[in-house]
Amino acid sequence: MNTAIENTNSIAPPEVDLSVQLGRLHLTNPVMVASGTFGYAREMAHLVDLSRLGGILPKTVTKQERQGNAPWRTIETAAGMLNSIGLDNDGIDAFLENHQPYLTTLGTAIVVSIAGRTQDEFVEMCQQLDGVPGVAAIELNISCPNVSGGVDFGTDPNMCEQLVAACRGACELPILAKLTPNVTSIQDMARAASAAGADALSLINTCQGMAVDWRGRKPMLGNVIGGLSGPAIKPIALRCVYQAAQVVDTPIIGIGGIATLDDMMEFLVTGASAVQLGTVNFYNPTVSMTLLDALPAALAELGAKSVAEIVGTLRV
Ligand SMILES: Cc1cc2nc3c(=O)[nH]c(=O)nc-3n(C[C@H](O)[C@H](O)[C@H](O)COP(=O)(O)O)c2cc1C
Repeated sequence: MNTAIENTNSIAPPEVDLSVQLGRLHLTNPVMVASGTFGYAREMAHLVDLSRLGGILPKTVTKQERQGNAPWRTIETAAGMLNSIGLDNDGIDAFLENHQPYLTTLGTAIVVSIAGRTQDEFVEMCQQLDGVPGVAAIELNISCPNVSGGVDFGTDPNMCEQLVAACRGACELPILAKLTPNVTSIQDMARAASAAGADALSLINTCQGMAVDWRGRKPMLGNVIGGLSGPAIKPIALRCVYQAAQVVDTPIIGIGGIATLDDMMEFLVTGASAVQLGTVNFYNPTVSMTLLDALPAALAELGAKSVAEIVGTLRV
């Protein structure tokens, strides 16, 4: 089991503790990159000092390879993007053979994102990842809006609880549950994942959306409906983090429209212990380094000597 990977070249002044603890998962700092927006990290190696990241989430892998959805798969929107990739990937065997050996060398926490069509598939993938060198944790993608049946586990609290419990029982690795905002009550889903023993909750995946070509009278996305991400969804994500933090003690990872230092700090004080950067990686690929550089001074501005000191300190 390998749940703690230390970075050696932290830029933080010694008096500021950037490390965070997400259940059994230890990160050297709270800045992670979100699944599906950072490739398999190799693509970003010429731009980003990968060893400085708190954690890397490669693109979600599934048991069998998937072709993904018909084009178009991405559309730019007023303040973000719509995507309907549909979990295009080569399957977990190919991931372990072609990508994990490289990821293991990076000196940061690798959190492998998995999605199954059934609970059994999730469990089998957890068993397969257990003990693989360099895998620090597993994120259960129970929130992808772009695959048929992709959100059942993320919208039904009972199914969610059973799935997370089964995955926890199937391996020694820390388990993160990535939830969808496309539910009536994020608090019910957070309670369910937390009760099942999730080490952390990742909030949020994309919000369902649509784009239309009115002249052609047709949808822009091949899959008609897709997932909205980027600055447009930040207020929704903040609301989800806030509501979840009110009902569970499980650490939360904030995701959704984070693009600046202010965005990241807003998530931390609202209740997130760490963040994942997503869509911003496409238009500002070095942003993770910028935020890491700026974080110690922002903590100091609040009089804090550690990240943990400011998490959930919002005064309402
Ligand atoms: C092109 C694209 C592909 C994505 N693929 C995945 C994926 O494979 N697995 C996953 O859990 N989330 C995926 N996401 C969702 C992101 O990880 C993130 O949860 C979401 O985009 C919200 O964060 P953001 O607004 O910072 O992008 C994808 C997002 C985009 C834009």
